[in-house]
Amino acid sequence: EIMKNLIPFIAYLIVLSCQNSKSDVDLKVKNLLSQMTLEEKIGQMNQYNGFYDATGPAPDGEDQKIKYENVKNGLVGSMLNVRGVDEVRAFQKLAVENSRLGIPIIFGFDVIHGYKTVFPIPLAESASWDLDIIEMSAKMSAKEASAAGLNWTFAPMVDISRDARWGRVMEGAGEDPYLGSLIAAARVKGFQGSDLSSYETIASTAKHFAAYGFSESGRDYNTVDIGMNTLHNIVLPPFKATVDAGVKTFMNSFNDLNGIPATADKYLQREILKGDWNFDGFVVSDWGSLREMIDHGFARDRKHAGELALNGGSDMDMESYIYIDHIKELLDEGKVKISQIDDAVRRILKVKYELGLFDDPYKYLDNEREKNITGSKEILDATLEVANHSIVLLKNEGNILPLKKNDQKIAIIGPLADDKNSPLGNWRTAAENNSAVSVLEAMREYKGNKISHAKGVKLVNKIPAGFHEEVSINETDKTGILNAKKIAKDADVVIMVLGEYGFQSGEGRSRTNLDLPGFQQELLEEGYKVNKNIVLVLMNGRPLILNWHNENLPAIVEAWHLGSLSGTAISNVLYGDFNPGGKLPMSFPRSVGQLPLYYNYKSTGRPGADGEDAGSVFWSHYQDELNSPLYPFGYGLSYTTFSISEISLSSDEFSNGESINASVSVSNTGNIKGREVIQLYIQDKFASATRPVRELKGFETVDLEPGESKTVEFIINEKLLEFYNGDNKWVTEPGEFNVFIGNSSQTTNSTSFNFR
Ligand code: NOJ
Repeated sequence: EIMKNLIPFIAYLIVLSCQNSKSDVDLKVKNLLSQMTLEEKIGQMNQYNGFYDATGPAPDGEDQKIKYENVKNGLVGSMLNVRGVDEVRAFQKLAVENSRLGIPIIFGFDVIHGYKTVFPIPLAESASWDLDIIEMSAKMSAKEASAAGLNWTFAPMVDISRDARWGRVMEGAGEDPYLGSLIAAARVKGFQGSDLSSYETIASTAKHFAAYGFSESGRDYNTVDIGMNTLHNIVLPPFKATVDAGVKTFMNSFNDLNGIPATADKYLQREILKGDWNFDGFVVSDWGSLREMIDHGFARDRKHAGELALNGGSDMDMESYIYIDHIKELLDEGKVKISQIDDAVRRILKVKYELGLFDDPYKYLDNEREKNITGSKEILDATLEVANHSIVLLKNEGNILPLKKNDQKIAIIGPLADDKNSPLGNWRTAAENNSAVSVLEAMREYKGNKISHAKGVKLVNKIPAGFHEEVSINETDKTGILNAKKIAKDADVVIMVLGEYGFQSGEGRSRTNLDLPGFQQELLEEGYKVNKNIVLVLMNGRPLILNWHNENLPAIVEAWHLGSLSGTAISNVLYGDFNPGGKLPMSFPRSVGQLPLYYNYKSTGRPGADGEDAGSVFWSHYQDELNSPLYPFGYGLSYTTFSISEISLSSDEFSNGESINASVSVSNTGNIKGREVIQLYIQDKFASATRPVRELKGFETVDLEPGESKTVEFIINEKLLEFYNGDNKWVTEPGEFNVFIGNSSQTTNSTSFNFR
């Protein structure tokens, strides 16, 4: 009884002490700030890329010497691309032991889908629709990165993207703001955990603020011009979700938005982010994005760029060296305010305190820890779990899959079949080249079948780019096709492993064609001539055009770039040791001409529904292609089958403060255990601003044994019906709503209700 009474009191004490520690940090920051010179303050706002091997002798190039001196003088707040305990320690030592105040550096790195051990690319992970798994992936990545001395990742990228031409769709969660928001929050939680000062967590970054995913025509870095409706209803929600999840930093973006480069966008950074959303972390620019405002024709010169960026709300300058060179002058001239500088520095120092770097600047630097954790079994195993769940079964006719385990002749063909590099995808920044398990290797582990192999078309070295050797798919040599045909002819089943090489998607990798690069299509069609039993296994970082494939091939497996244990996951699925349950996070178009393409489009005044004979030509449609995608958002098959009942509503009307339940019963009607993702969509039939034909508003993954049924229930309340209207307000309007529950965005299982 006494204990019982004490519990609320103890809880109160805990809350109090947390508050204390929070204001404790604020106090420490304030105190430190008061001791800093203007120069030292500006130094905190300066971020350098790693510029020499800090474990060796001091650098001797002119620029490097300046940077080196700046580190020693406490004029570098942060560094990126310095990694590994020894390197990080060398830089940290330089800063802490030489500078007047000994302020530690915060070390950032692009931990996008793993550090050294590679998880599936973010788009692939998103296909799992499994928030626990996605959070776990970020958590493991943070653990490995933190053991390498890192404090901060430039992830998650939460840009909504509707255009598969844009190479960076691989880094995000796809096209939907609801799914995107939940995934964004899960990733932030995974990276940061509940205690930033723990050895296993790192600070995370929501990027790219904002609307980078809407780069015109899918060309990277291109201009963005979207209205308030799309900005607030589609682009911003995932960013807001990261703030609610406690994200520590934001990165702005290369693009301009409605005429203002994001780096200088006051409305985004000062009004919305730091104002309306009360974000108290700091904003880092993207690489050189201050300087790029000159190219945009927005800043006259470097100094002007600094003025615009600081006034716009950018706190830290990544690799433009503009703050360090010009802020003092700008302050003297009254172009920026000391309060803006103080605020930026306060935000940066705060994150450093929270990481525990002031308690011990070397706290993350333990060679033993690094050795034990890097590439550990725990992390590697986790990549397989995520990879299994990331695979989407797009087609499986006549149950050609799963494969029989014995007495089969299996031909494994394609340039990516034995490739150990491409499955790592882009942004596998610290991974070793060729460290993935290939499909061929993994398939050979199943000893009951006879495997033959031919590349058909080769991978070739192209240009050494970035951190890694870059390879492309051969575009001149077809000689291998003949041999591939020979082994295909002789096989019971042909596995064609085709798609994009690892660096074909990602930053700077926009495409106008979304077909299989090189001679892969020819290889496929030649193979098909001699054997129709083809399973197409796709490795790619974006939606591709698969019309021929869908029309002709019995089975298609979307395997993205799945990371270190890619081949293992693919063979698990091909042999049925794992029953795939992934769902597409992006629509797969029928034609590049349909782009941008997304399920939550607006109806027009001339709605052009596929298959509808409108009786005239004046409808919103194409003469030469359907409007719909080939594979819709939310789509994916399983080796078992499911039935979903009609929707039952607890009531067909409700008003403010109330809610109703919408439920369906889901049954596994097949012979094996499987997972279905039950999705709830809502359409506001009539509103003061036009609304999408439907929007995802809930989902649940259900695992069912054969014959098993479960009820899936969604709560529909006012909050789910909210939208940003023409008066720039979030509102819920009374009226009739359609509700859909099914297993893809094209479900027709629907009913309606009234909100009064
Ligand atoms: C540029 C990219 O746009 C950004 O996402 C990344 O974090 C930085 N480079 C640093 O590598």
